[in-house]
Amino acid sequence: METRTIRFIRRGEVVALPNVPPDRTLLEVLREDLGCTGTKEGCAEGDCGACTVVLGEMGEDGARIEYRAINSCIRLAHSIDGLALWSVEDIANRDGTLHPAQEAMVACHGSQCGFCTPGFVMSLYARSVGALGTGDTPVADVIAGNLCRCTGYVKIIDAIEQAAQARRRADG
Ligand code: FES
Ligand code: FES
Repeated sequence: METRTIRFIRRGEVVALPNVPPDRTLLEVLREDLGCTGTKEGCAEGDCGACTVVLGEMGEDGARIEYRAINSCIRLAHSIDGLALWSVEDIANRDGTLHPAQEAMVACHGSQCGFCTPGFVMSLYARSVGALGTGDTPVADVIAGNLCRCTGYVKIIDAIEQAAQARRRADG
């Protein structure tokens, strides 16, 4: 099986990973090759959203980045060559200040065992960058791809609404 180097942008820098097998998933690269275990593996079949990350690529107009939330467990690592990647480790500010999506989950107690939390946070982040609907998108649609087995949905929905309010305030 032929391996290949993949390159992508993360935290504003180019990451180059040599010898990546063609059947390696993005989730395996994140957790096993890069040691970024914040992104979780739940079902490994694209059903639970625990492995949600965000990808960005230049839009057709060449002026705007288009973002997409994806399940990294069913995304082959080679397919992100040339794209930008954000995982749950990448969205807080450099000074450690949490992203509003993270702050809202903390403030609303939206995490119980915590296993699903990175996936929900990334779905909230995806909405904040326009990858998963807009501020007006129904909450149920934003988290349609994320499962919480601790049945913590009420708190999570509170967090989503709080994050949306914070965004509306920031947008003026
Ligand atoms: Fe469940 Fe990826 S681990 S969707
Ligand atoms: Fe435990 Fe959601 S907090 S699975």
